[in-house]
Amino acid sequence: MASDIEKILRPIDNTAPLFPPKFMILSSGEKLIIRQVGRDEIPALLPHVEPLLKVERDFYDIVAARVYAELLGYYRYRVQDEYVLVAQINGELVAIVNGRRLNPEVGMSYHTLSLRRGLRIGAHAFAAKMEYHFDILRQKEVLIVAESPNGFRRWMIEYQLEKRFDIAHELGGVPSWTLTRQLYEKAKGTLIVGSRPVPPDLLKQAEDQILPPSDPPRPPKDSLAARRSKYDPTLPSVNNLTGCTGGNKDA
Ligand SMILES: CC(C)(COP(=O)(O)OP(=O)(O)OC[C@H]1O[C@@H](n2cnc3c(N)ncnc32)[C@H](O)[C@@H]1OP(=O)(O)O)[C@@H](O)C(=O)NCCC(=O)NCCS
Repeated sequence: MASDIEKILRPIDNTAPLFPPKFMILSSGEKLIIRQVGRDEIPALLPHVEPLLKVERDFYDIVAARVYAELLGYYRYRVQDEYVLVAQINGELVAIVNGRRLNPEVGMSYHTLSLRRGLRIGAHAFAAKMEYHFDILRQKEVLIVAESPNGFRRWMIEYQLEKRFDIAHELGGVPSWTLTRQLYEKAKGTLIVGSRPVPPDLLKQAEDQILPPSDPPRPPKDSLAARRSKYDPTLPSVNNLTGCTGGNKDA
């Protein structure tokens, strides 16, 4: 009985070509590998997404909550035609991107989650998923939204996305933007980079084990918003202000 119901609940995967892994050298000199993962590797990703639920900064919390649900949805067969790509450096997990095929011609971009900041790793991972939709799946357009100002700068502004505000995006029903094939072709070679094939030793290292992120975004040490800047090394001007105005530095 239960297995009969499961047959009804579980969507049947439509077959699709896989994303061929690629690599690139980052400005740090490190080699970034981007590859597709199957359902079997999802349990290795979830523990690294979960802590981000507590990181309000840059909207990591909502994006992590949604990514967690999407990964679980894929793992437990509760979403139609999803795919997941990961970015790794020396095996370390540094980004996760996902999306799905809405129909043969249109892609639905879900999320991009960068687990190491400052190297445009999220930008490269997003570019890889666009490459997947256009060059591998041969789709005509991809519907996209941003949940954070960083996302808006990276996608809407850098790719000059077009508005498709008449279409509600699956992420929250907000108005969609779109990457058309014309815009995609324009971005190739600048925003969309990387080489293939990945050297076998690098690919093996990535596939052997997904290592934890070495420096992921972390929740604030102090949950009281008014005191957070004290611990925030990226906001020196705010810390200085406390001193300038004679504020209580111990507060
Ligand atoms: C949006 C996102 C994927 C972009 O990833 P990315 O290309 O690797 O870029 P980073 O996150 O490293 O940097 C974004 C900006 O933050 C700043 N930044 C760099 N290092 C930083 C750090 N250690 N801490 C905070 N901000 C940092 C940079 O100024 C950068 O701006 P730039 O455009 O001038 O380079 C990533 O910021 C992210 O995962 N955000 C949270 C989830 C999210 O919003 N996802 C997108 C949903 S639409």
